[in-house]
Amino acid sequence: MNIYQIVAVISLGVLAHGAPTQCPEAYGVQAYAHPENCDQFFLCTNGTLTLETCENGLLFDGKGGVHNHCNYNWAVDCAERKYDPTAISSPGCEYQFGLYEDGPECSTSYIKCEYGLPNSLECVKGLVYDDRIHGCNWPDLLLEKCNPEAVVGFKCPAKVDPNSPAARFWPFPRFAVPGDPHSLFLCNEGHPRLIACGEDKLFDQSTLTCEDA
Ligand SMILES: *[C@@H]1O[C@H](CO)[C@@H](O)[C@H](O)[C@H]1NC(C)=O
Repeated sequence: MNIYQIVAVISLGVLAHGAPTQCPEAYGVQAYAHPENCDQFFLCTNGTLTLETCENGLLFDGKGGVHNHCNYNWAVDCAERKYDPTAISSPGCEYQFGLYEDGPECSTSYIKCEYGLPNSLECVKGLVYDDRIHGCNWPDLLLEKCNPEAVVGFKCPAKVDPNSPAARFWPFPRFAVPGDPHSLFLCNEGHPRLIACGEDKLFDQSTLTCEDA
């Protein structure tokens, strides 16, 4: 039970017996879980109470900001609250709101659906879409369908000279990315990963680490 639900139970306890008559706060915007329905919630806007319903594919958990206080259904723990899981599908979108693979093949992009309209989004360079986590992931974690060398554009050497700087990071030897001083290649069991140094950092070829620019 999160803070929204606790507040909802205390402040809107009358709901079990009938419609609530007022909001606990006179100002601001507050959302409260519906005690029975996972796809509904109560919204107080400057003291005005409304019953809201999440869009298809979304549910309420008090912390979801995907759309109108609701979160993706796979991210929400409804506990005792009920909802109708029926999908309202349209071409490219199972639910009206959701994140989807753009095909069965390994892909560096994915589909984000809003109001049933699919939009193609790109993963950060070097990553591929992983439906298991509904997000982008290292290609070497999806070896059943991805070829990390093709995705990353680097082949890890079978051996690393023990005297080379790369060997210092064994079993995860590192290499410079030609033409990109903001990233590095890292090899994990022979599979490459493209790692970004992060903001304001540059890859130092002599130390093979990301340093403050
Ligand atoms: C709430 O009321 C304040 C003050 O009257 C106003 O500035 C604000 O826009 C209102 N907020 C909403 C969400 O209506």
